[in-house]
Amino acid sequence: MELVDKIGVIYWSYKESTEIMAEKISNGIDEAGAKAILVNVVDFDLNTIDSYYKIALGCPAMAGEALEKSEFEPFFQAITKHLKGKKVALFGSHGWGDGEWMEDWESQVKGLGAILFDKGLTILGEPDKEGRHRCVEFGKAFAEF
Ligand SMILES: Cc1cc2nc3c(=O)[nH]c(=O)nc-3n(C[C@H](O)[C@H](O)[C@H](O)COP(=O)(O)O)c2cc1C
Repeated sequence: MELVDKIGVIYWSYKESTEIMAEKISNGIDEAGAKAILVNVVDFDLNTIDSYYKIALGCPAMAGEALEKSEFEPFFQAITKHLKGKKVALFGSHGWGDGEWMEDWESQVKGLGAILFDKGLTILGEPDKEGRHRCVEFGKAFAEF
């Protein structure tokens, strides 16, 4: 597989909303002709991070408009030095409010020198049919970015 085709979709999900988003984004990436590698963060091998040409990262808003602290945040901190110059997309589900955690996360990723794709994709609660469609389109556009 060419490095240029391989896009990691790495996510954490408490229930399943962000997981559904990750699956649909992966479908969109594949539909665009690239190859999505969908991995739950708990199964992610940190040694493989540089084998991805682009990465989509997913995490819901957790306590205090933050990334999930015990599994996702340590993973994210471990990959920060690998994000410089990399194309990165962010996504996640949230329960209320206007997605403050995503805005903070976007700023953080830009500050690390990553090339952020669009605005992070946020969905309130579980993605419905329209939300799932938005995820597929987001994946397609990220593959073409
Ligand atoms: C412990 C906990 C803390 C949460 N904190 C926030 C929060 O600060 N802001 C918010 O919008 N939603 C918050 N939520 C709601 C989740 O983001 C929402 O339920 C989301 O759909 C979960 O996604 P998931 O199904 O991928 O786990 C919280 C949920 C839990 C369980």
